[in-house]
Amino acid sequence: MKSKSLFVALLTMPVIAMASVPRTTHQALEQSIIKPDSKDGRYLWLPIQDNAPEARLCVVIGNTEIMAQNVRMAREKVDYYVALDMQPWLNEKGMKVVIQNVPEGCICFNKLEQNNDEDFQFITETFRPNYHHTPRRGWMNDPNGMFYLDGTWHLFYQYNPYGSMWGNMHWAHSTSTDLINWQPQPIALTPDAWGTMFSGSCIVDHNNTTGFGKNAVVAMYTASRPTPFGGDVQAQCLAYSTDGGYTFTKYEGNPVLTGTEKDFRDPNMFWNDEIGAWNLILACGQEMRIYSSPDLKTWKEESRFGAGLGCHDGVWECPDLIKLRITNGKKKGQEKWVLFCNINPGGLNGGSATQYFIGDFDGHKFTVDDAGRYSEGNALWQDYGKDHYATVSFSNAPDGRHTMIAWMSNWEYANEVPTKQYRSANSIAREPYIYEGADKQLYLGSAPSPEYDGKGLDKTLKIKGSCKIVLSNENGEEYVLTYDQKAMTLSADRSKSGLTGFNSNFTKAGKRNDGLIVAPLHNKLTSLRIFIDRSSVEVFGNNGEVCVTNLVFPKSEFNIISTVK
Ligand code: FRU
Repeated sequence: MKSKSLFVALLTMPVIAMASVPRTTHQALEQSIIKPDSKDGRYLWLPIQDNAPEARLCVVIGNTEIMAQNVRMAREKVDYYVALDMQPWLNEKGMKVVIQNVPEGCICFNKLEQNNDEDFQFITETFRPNYHHTPRRGWMNDPNGMFYLDGTWHLFYQYNPYGSMWGNMHWAHSTSTDLINWQPQPIALTPDAWGTMFSGSCIVDHNNTTGFGKNAVVAMYTASRPTPFGGDVQAQCLAYSTDGGYTFTKYEGNPVLTGTEKDFRDPNMFWNDEIGAWNLILACGQEMRIYSSPDLKTWKEESRFGAGLGCHDGVWECPDLIKLRITNGKKKGQEKWVLFCNINPGGLNGGSATQYFIGDFDGHKFTVDDAGRYSEGNALWQDYGKDHYATVSFSNAPDGRHTMIAWMSNWEYANEVPTKQYRSANSIAREPYIYEGADKQLYLGSAPSPEYDGKGLDKTLKIKGSCKIVLSNENGEEYVLTYDQKAMTLSADRSKSGLTGFNSNFTKAGKRNDGLIVAPLHNKLTSLRIFIDRSSVEVFGNNGEVCVTNLVFPKSEFNIISTVK
């Protein structure tokens, strides 16, 4: 029996592609030159050590620098590998890779490999989710430029192909027809003379207002350019796609919107029938700026929003502005505008979170319904968990939907979560709506998108009164939800949920000293819908009237749910 299984194991072992170590010449001043041989394959595999200082890696053809990235080249140990895909340049005469700021003798020079094997040294990660979107390798943060076209959901995202920590921002791309299974696509936007590719949005230009072509997909993003004197300069740029969003051409007139502020980013644009023009909402320090344009190329500032309203304990980022329907109460059926304002830090439970404002928008100015509700730092939050950030909606979604996706992490510890060759996942998609609470005030709800119905991904519990719900596994690890009907709160305790020690903020919750992640309730709780994946728990009370999204890193997935009175 034994020898047979050994035989089967040998037969099924992957064939390791022949690899080679490219030739390296070390110079003075910590500069090394590598000359890859095109015959050895398209990928130069770079050994990475997450806690090594950033080295500068450049591709030079002849005497011209083609690209340059910051890469944490391994000095003493290799945590994982990233690929430099040399395909575009491999056959150019005299292609060289130059590495600066890594002393000769560091381990990386012996560990470099070149081959055509895209699975080279691929790590099967313990905590990779089963049905949430993740990058195969590399770092991810904000969802960007999401749109829907001809049956396909397009998700772009902030991406570092050269490591599992933030840096070298690109726009990576994945597509899905069901919001569950995601197909990786080639990288959409790479850094250029204007800087690295920060967050932004996409629209489908049905009427060719831009002149880029009928139904062109147009992306607007922030290019963030480091200066030699420290700091970054941020400007808004355009790129367009005439093949449905798979490949983009950058607009030659970039940048299209510049400013003098340090934080001037994350453009979110949408067509507004009320003014027959495009609107743009942009995060600028601790306020939002609203612009209009006939063609996405020339922009007029219309108004500013935010002074003295909501939470200002951090930088305002990644805005969205959408019109939603009220689903209950006296105003049922009416519509209101909701301004989404991601803020970091300053979230109620610590770090980054999404606050929102309900009001009216006429294409020029956004006005909150009741300024008193947002005074003195009072804020309303879309999700009270710690791992729900940079939430924005898909444009051009079908049936008037405003489907949203969040980055399921928190800037407090995102760079340190215990995965290796990739970091971060997205939340499941959600459908925002407005509902009336018991106090007759309007609130934002976010229900799981209908694509998840009946797929067996979630558990729904009926709730009658105060209770504790314990999610656990056979290792005794647990995640505890407590519904307190008297206090009208739903709280989450992840202190015994598995690995927590990678960053002390993981078990802290803002200003509270008990570490409990607490959400206020605006109606009595009657049901809880819980989505558990390998390393996350997303809870939707009363179909999303209250949402709590948190990461967890247990030894094995939580597979036991028990309710305690
Ligand atoms: C939000 C954010 C954005 C910025 C991007 C950079 O998480 O800081 O404001 O565009 O990430 O990656």
